[in-house]
Amino acid sequence: MEDTILVTGGAGFIGSNFILRQLAQDPSSILNLDKLTYAGNLRNLDAIAGDRRYEFVHGDIGDRPLVRRLLQDRAPRGVVHFAAESHVDRSIRGPDDFIRTNVDGTFALLEEVRAHYESLPELARRAFRFLHVSTDEVYGSLESADAPFSESTPYAPNSPYAASKAASDHLVRAYHHTYGLPTLTTNCSNNYGPFQFPEKLIPLVILNARDRKPLPVYGDGQNVRDWLYVEDHCAAIATVLANGRVGETYNIGGWNEKRNLDIVQLICDLLDEIEGRSGAPRRELISFVRDRPGHDRRYAMDASKIERELGWHPRETFETGIRKTVHWYLQNATWAKDVTSGSYRQWIETHYSS
Ligand code: NAD
Ligand code: TYD
Repeated sequence: MEDTILVTGGAGFIGSNFILRQLAQDPSSILNLDKLTYAGNLRNLDAIAGDRRYEFVHGDIGDRPLVRRLLQDRAPRGVVHFAAESHVDRSIRGPDDFIRTNVDGTFALLEEVRAHYESLPELARRAFRFLHVSTDEVYGSLESADAPFSESTPYAPNSPYAASKAASDHLVRAYHHTYGLPTLTTNCSNNYGPFQFPEKLIPLVILNARDRKPLPVYGDGQNVRDWLYVEDHCAAIATVLANGRVGETYNIGGWNEKRNLDIVQLICDLLDEIEGRSGAPRRELISFVRDRPGHDRRYAMDASKIERELGWHPRETFETGIRKTVHWYLQNATWAKDVTSGSYRQWIETHYSS
């Protein structure tokens, strides 16, 4: 494959949206390395199954011989690193996989990419990029009056997930400063949109509200997150990959802070509007449940650096994005049914029964 980008974790929520968008908008080929954990789903990529510019490899980013072989054989011009364990609640119940993939896996990937980069001729080295996809959760929690996180906000991760992502961000930074690896890091706020695994707040609430099941809200529901439609995040990543300054980090966000309870109520109202109100208003399904341990109160992102330097801006407002998302889950009931069987049911039972 000529002009290839190696994507890790491309069968997950954001990675699959990125691959679909990239193949539609860019002539590069994509090599997708994914372990297919519970969160990885090849059906997300059905639309490009026959595309000659796309290839899937089933494997672990921590498998160094495999990664070495892929880098040698395909000589990608860049790596976009999505692969991670990504769910805070799972990290609280069992942090091991988070350290294994997010820390050890990123380290293994960086080591192999560094060796590959150093073997490249000068011209190829100049074009090469390693883009690390990270999160706003590395910055910790804000009080209501605090300014949003900027790229210079000190790291203060609070969950095992956030700590493992912070560790990986630091490794990426070190590989740039020590070895000159041409890295880029993006830290993004909460994403929502098609193909998100329904253990995260928005798809969980859409599917439960559709089926008139209880809508679990942690604590008092006043925790605040900044929400960005996934396609806007993917566009930002493509922009940073093409034009970002090597060694820099870019915060990505939607300028869209919302309280959890407001989001859940908005989804209820949308479903009442779309599906019709044959029974009681769906807001009555809201059920306040035990809070997440160490639950961060507020995240907010200052995305002015990427806007100013690279001209990226979110296209969707929350109102347009959430409407599209609700319609997508209603229209893709088979996708949702397929991913909410087996291990999914087990997670829901264990997590919400206590
Ligand atoms: P996801 O959990 O939906 O997908 C993760 C993908 O990585 C899955 O396809 C999984 O099979 C794969 N994977 C896991 N371990 C692997 C391993 N060892 N080797 C190869 N593949 C492996 O996650 P997501 O929501 O798409 O997030 C993607 C990235 O974006 C993550 O790094 C996450 O930290 C970051 N991020 C997510 C959000 C969000 O709101 N979802 C926000 C900001 C940043
Ligand atoms: P989540 O989608 O897990 O993302 P993150 O923890 O990475 O921000 O959760 C978003 C918010 O919604 C977070 O404050 C926790 C809350 N939440 C609930 O209130 N109920 C739920 O069932 C879930 C999954 C999350």
